[in-house]
Amino acid sequence: MGDLYYGLPSVRSVMFLLPPLYWFRREAANLLLQTLIRINPKRILEVGFSDAFLTRRISLALPGSSIVAIDTSASSVERAKALRLPNVTFLVDDFFEHRGRYDVVVSMHVFVLFDHFKALDKLRELAPIHLLTLTGRSPFTILHRSFHRFMTGIDVHIVEPQTYRALAERMGFNVLLYNINSIERSYMVLLQKKVPP
Ligand SMILES: C[S@@+](CC[C@H](N)C(=O)[O-])C[C@H]1O[C@@H](n2cnc3c(N)ncnc32)[C@H](O)[C@@H]1O
Repeated sequence: MGDLYYGLPSVRSVMFLLPPLYWFRREAANLLLQTLIRINPKRILEVGFSDAFLTRRISLALPGSSIVAIDTSASSVERAKALRLPNVTFLVDDFFEHRGRYDVVVSMHVFVLFDHFKALDKLRELAPIHLLTLTGRSPFTILHRSFHRFMTGIDVHIVEPQTYRALAERMGFNVLLYNINSIERSYMVLLQKKVPP
């Protein structure tokens, strides 16, 4: 799927979208990274690393952590392995099939591709803490969703922060929300498994 995602767009459409997308991605990566540094986990799973934009930053900022980074795109994994990041293992794997135990799962702009109920259910078995970025409804995200569906046939699941919070709380997580960017209505979610009383 990742190959398809990155293979199809024309040069013109990519040139048009790249500057804002790069800017948004940088903001999202900075917030995820600052939060990860505060948590200082030993074992991290990153889901959908693509060009390893975030992975490289985590690897540098947390040299004592061990990071498993998965993506369904074999070509992304090949390219990422060439970076030779010392504390990162890159694997071709599907999040929903992945097995393992981690301290934190981190993922930037990937969970918008998943059914939120199914994804939260899967997260429960992987780690006690999760850091994800999602997007709410705005003119930009509505346009981006149509563009994405046209280019890939895949839906982006835009979700309002309060709707996501209500779902995650019902599924046994404590939830903190942090705004990232008001144009793409992006926000970070910090999920923590509720401890039974
Ligand atoms: C929108 S890109 C985001 C990439 C990167 N995190 C970033 O923000 O630049 C989505 C990535 O998730 C990967 N992906 C999609 N579904 C996945 C799944 N079920 N398991 C693992 N990776 C997946 C795709 O191959 C693609 O590389």
